[in-house]
Amino acid sequence: MSEPMAKLSVLSVQLFTILFLCMTASAVSTLEGNVDVIIIGAGMAGISAGKTLTEKGITNFIILEATDKIGGRIRNTDFGGYKVELGANWVEGVNGKELNPIWALARQVKLQTTLFDQSNLSSNVYTASGALPPQTDVDAVTTARNDYITSLGESLSANRDHDISVLTAERLYGSVPSAPVELALDYFLYDYEFAEPPRVTSLKNTQPLPTFENFGEDSYFAADPRGFAAILQPVASYLKSENGKYVDPRLKLQKVVNKIVYTKHGVTVSTEDGSTYTAKAAILTVSLGVLQSKLIDFQPDLPFWKLEAIFEFDMAVYTKIFLKFPYKFWRTDNGTELFLYADDSRGYYPVWQHLEREFPGSNISFVTVTDDESRRIEQQSDDKTLAEIMEVLKSMFGPNIPEAEEILVPRWWSNRLFKGSFSNWPIGVSLHDFAQLQAPIKRLYFGGEHTSALYNGYIQGAYFSGIDAAKEVVKCLKHGKCLSGPMKDQRLENQSSCTEPI
Ligand SMILES: Cc1cc2nc3c(=O)[nH]c(=O)nc-3n(C[C@H](O)[C@H](O)[C@H](O)COP(=O)(O)OP(=O)(O)OC[C@H]3O[C@@H](n4cnc5c(N)ncnc54)[C@H](O)[C@@H]3O)c2cc1C
Ligand SMILES: *[C@@H]1O[C@H](CO)[C@@H](O)[C@H](O)[C@H]1NC(C)=O
Ligand SMILES: *[C@@H]1O[C@H](CO)[C@@H](O)[C@H](O)[C@H]1NC(C)=O
Ligand SMILES: *[C@@H]1O[C@H](CO)[C@@H](O)[C@H](O)[C@H]1NC(C)=O
Ligand SMILES: *[C@@H]1O[C@H](CO)[C@@H](O)[C@H](O)[C@H]1NC(C)=O
Repeated sequence: MSEPMAKLSVLSVQLFTILFLCMTASAVSTLEGNVDVIIIGAGMAGISAGKTLTEKGITNFIILEATDKIGGRIRNTDFGGYKVELGANWVEGVNGKELNPIWALARQVKLQTTLFDQSNLSSNVYTASGALPPQTDVDAVTTARNDYITSLGESLSANRDHDISVLTAERLYGSVPSAPVELALDYFLYDYEFAEPPRVTSLKNTQPLPTFENFGEDSYFAADPRGFAAILQPVASYLKSENGKYVDPRLKLQKVVNKIVYTKHGVTVSTEDGSTYTAKAAILTVSLGVLQSKLIDFQPDLPFWKLEAIFEFDMAVYTKIFLKFPYKFWRTDNGTELFLYADDSRGYYPVWQHLEREFPGSNISFVTVTDDESRRIEQQSDDKTLAEIMEVLKSMFGPNIPEAEEILVPRWWSNRLFKGSFSNWPIGVSLHDFAQLQAPIKRLYFGGEHTSALYNGYIQGAYFSGIDAAKEVVKCLKHGKCLSGPMKDQRLENQSSCTEPI
């Protein structure tokens, strides 16, 4: 077994132990409600939870979803005559030793994808004075530093408490990126993946990353006329549909949950339109950003150990800004689809990708920003953003380029149903703290990408989290074995395992 794999197995065993120490028997007959289970949220996590319940023989459930469709952060829109993805765009972690279930779904629905190739990036770096020659020297430093940082991350796993930031690792390596080109490549390696800077991100929990360790280093970019959301169809096949539309009465759309009353006997869930639903248990899959907001009123208040976990984890912001031009002025030969802009200011319109391979003749490209820049851009007009972008493009490609005809700026952070794009593991959150994010309280269970210890942030995290939460609910409803947090770990062995009475 390679070292990173050994680390991951240890992680799984630890999580297993944490969870099972806290299991207590409960009388199934004391649970009450009109349905067995209410699933809140019809993103990948909620849909996969429903699939697992169905497979385990529980079909008397409902799904409450705030928007008018399933898919959540897997969502597309029409732009410049094509379908572009506002949210998730890549199947990340492919061609490795294990099969990523999301890649299996993509293959099953014959999703149109292109291999994401970053190998030629250093030959496609621009500054305010135009294209640069291949950055082989910077490349060499970046690669060596990244190798050092990855192995340091692996070695930290030996000490369960100890963690450092990615930036601390860069300092330890003895070279912190500072020149614009170095910063752009550094941004690409870390911010472009985690949507937060190296100063924030935990080294121990991101290097190596289970997604790439387990499922492979490759990623595939989804560009399909049906949208990336086509991968949800096989997962949602338990829902009755007609002519491609879901007509199952258990799926209740445009239901914004604003109150959850939870006890040891069941849950009562209210929605903004005045409806109330009761069930023996609920699975809550809204994003970490929504949990950090005041959208849902919990009665009783969530306990401090849960709130602490919710607020210490990060909801990051990642924004792909799409632009449509009357004609293309960027290179379209092989190995040029990805290019960097190295501004003096780190993170200023830094990573570009054109869609010539996916949508030939579309004249569409997109630029990605994250974190503070995402929030800044969400709060200004699209005209202002377009003016900033045109200035950047003119410095890269010269003054004679055409004005963009259309711009699309997704606003995930401002959207009260998401409040960001995906979770990122910041320095200072231990595995034990993390376990509290998924810990159930009485008959309220938690799912969603942010509750997946191995794959948080990714679609596969959402997928597995739905399965895990549903399995716990099945154990409780069918076998009277109900969990209630906070979860404890071995270091707290003499405390009572479950402080919440069941
Ligand atoms: C811009 C962007 C880029 C991304 N890129 C990638 C990528 O390339 N690859 C990858 O693997 N992952 C990517 N992700 C992450 C991925 O999309 C998510 O991890 C995953 O889709 C989350 O699924 P989920 O079911 O946990 O949450 P969600 O998809 O957020 O589902 C939760 C559902 O709950 C609903 N909801 C919220 N509040 C309420 C309420 N009060 N009442 C009722 N319903 C409510 C929401 O409408 C939503 O449908 C990206 C995300 C974004 C935003
Ligand atoms: C894209 O640009 C080409 C010229 O390069 C033009 O002929 C074509 O009509 C444009 N397509 C769209 C969809 O704008
Ligand atoms: C570009 O790449 C594709 C496949 O990767 C190949 O078939 C094609 O010949 C390449 N084109 C050029 C001009 O090298
Ligand atoms: C890398 O990109 C440059 C453009 O900057 C291009 O000329 C070159 O052909 C590309 N190389 C490969 C191997 O794709
Ligand atoms: C737990 O209790 C045992 C004896 O009951 C004691 O020996 C041990 O030191 C305690 N562990 C902790 C972490 O307090």
